[in-house]
Amino acid sequence: MKVLIVLGSRNPQGQTARAADALLQGVTDEGSQGERVFLPKMKIESCRQCEDSGWGICRTEGKCVIEDDFAAIVGQIRDADAVVFANPVYFSDLSESMRAFTDRLRRTCMHEAGRDKIADKPAIGICVAGGGGGGAPACAVSLEKVLQRCGFDVVDMIPARRQNLDMKVNILEITGKWLTTCPSSG
Ligand SMILES: Cc1cc2nc3c(=O)[nH]c(=O)nc-3n(C[C@H](O)[C@H](O)[C@H](O)COP(=O)(O)O)c2cc1C
Repeated sequence: MKVLIVLGSRNPQGQTARAADALLQGVTDEGSQGERVFLPKMKIESCRQCEDSGWGICRTEGKCVIEDDFAAIVGQIRDADAVVFANPVYFSDLSESMRAFTDRLRRTCMHEAGRDKIADKPAIGICVAGGGGGGAPACAVSLEKVLQRCGFDVVDMIPARRQNLDMKVNILEITGKWLTTCPSSG
């Protein structure tokens, strides 16, 4: 099985990457493959709200008009068997790069063509509050909401904070192993 990890942090040595890597370890221990994408290192513009109605070709074609790295990452999501969204908690919410990406994905997924190979795909969210430690559960609610609207089968959401990350990495590793069993609520 192929697992794609989409990170809303730019730091491969950071706390979010540490959490994501723990899950990835569980995935690879079971003989599956994993790949990481660091969203802040990619070119992902914000939605332009193209037309006066607020919509654009996202609604009519399930695509986005902006020519940046969005479409390529969506292609990677389609190619994967499961997707993990790992997000650093900013202001108890999503990071700007995760927000920009999921905002546009949610729009394209309103159309059947946009939902192709995304609908019902198992997804896991990880939210790491690496400062004071507050806000991971609130961020997890935000992330779950947008992923569900995209049509993913959100099979788990894991909040973590700097103060419990040593403990949570164990859970994340086990979760990675479990993900390879292709859990699906359907
Ligand atoms: C703009 C901003 C807002 C942040 N808000 C929070 C917060 O609400 N709660 C918290 O514990 N940490 C907060 N942090 C710290 C991040 O959660 C921490 O930097 C992140 O988890 C670790 O980032 P990394 O994975 O890129 O290393 C904030 C950091 C930034 C830059």
